[in-house]
Amino acid sequence: MKNILSINDLSKKEILDLIFLAEKIKKSPQNYNSKLKNKVLLDIFEKPSLRTRLSFEVAVYQLGGHTIFYDLGNSPLGKGKESIEDTARVISKYVNVVMARLYSQEDLISLAENGNIPVINGLTDYEHPCQILGDLLTIKEKLRRLSNIKIAYFGDAKNNVTHSLMFACSKLGIKMSVACPRNMQPLFRINGVEVTQDVNKAIKNADIVYVDSWMSYQISKSKHAKRVKQLRKYQVNVNLMKKSPKALFMHCLPAKRGEEVTSEVMDSNKSIVFDQAENRLHIQKAILLKLLC
Ligand code: CP
Ligand code: NVA
Repeated sequence: MKNILSINDLSKKEILDLIFLAEKIKKSPQNYNSKLKNKVLLDIFEKPSLRTRLSFEVAVYQLGGHTIFYDLGNSPLGKGKESIEDTARVISKYVNVVMARLYSQEDLISLAENGNIPVINGLTDYEHPCQILGDLLTIKEKLRRLSNIKIAYFGDAKNNVTHSLMFACSKLGIKMSVACPRNMQPLFRINGVEVTQDVNKAIKNADIVYVDSWMSYQISKSKHAKRVKQLRKYQVNVNLMKKSPKALFMHCLPAKRGEEVTSEVMDSNKSIVFDQAENRLHIQKAILLKLLC
């Protein structure tokens, strides 16, 4: 494993190994507190973040390393004065690993191809692999298995989180049903993942109900009213959750209560969203150790 750019680049074994390592670290964090001594992570952000930024920074700190935060708005790259290729070459001279949240997956790949240090995808418009690796850890903890599972996803599916979840489900043999409007379908199809406009079909027998924001970071505010109208029937509310009483509720967050999910569901005993957020920390540690040690 050289980089984490896409879940699709990882084998089933690599995914399961990362989850296993995260479980070990979560159980005994003290055993790992100097594993990244003298190592430096560079965090590059083109978009906002709470969970990804904090979980990576705390992960590096607790592993004994150091993080530098770099806001692209204040960089020669962000100002159009330096290419991504040259930026990649320069940062490889200073730090040991880069975690980047960029708009474009192509730019992320270019960062990885032109530098000679590991690059971690902290979210692009196309994928959010670290999120989904953490989510698999959460699902395994809660259901005590990663097989014989059905995940139902509702809402905007032309979406980074949906794409990474689809790759992961297909690799691990998890059944997935994606319910979304026709104009917000995933950008690809993959074995084992059904795409439908029928929420009743998607929720049937689901073990996990998963949603993401209707207004991802890159979507302009001017599109809000129209999208809310198109997505309304995909909202996860108590009526929908009742159709699969065993289902747990997941959301990568940030959530807009009253849009993709109601507060009633977010705060219900079916909701595991805050444990899900916590597990970002444990999986980031596993990712960093696999890439650097
Ligand atoms: N889920 C997630 O990546 O959250 P942030 O945008 O806050 O990092
Ligand atoms: N799809 C969302 C995920 C946020 C973690 C976005 O890109 O904003």
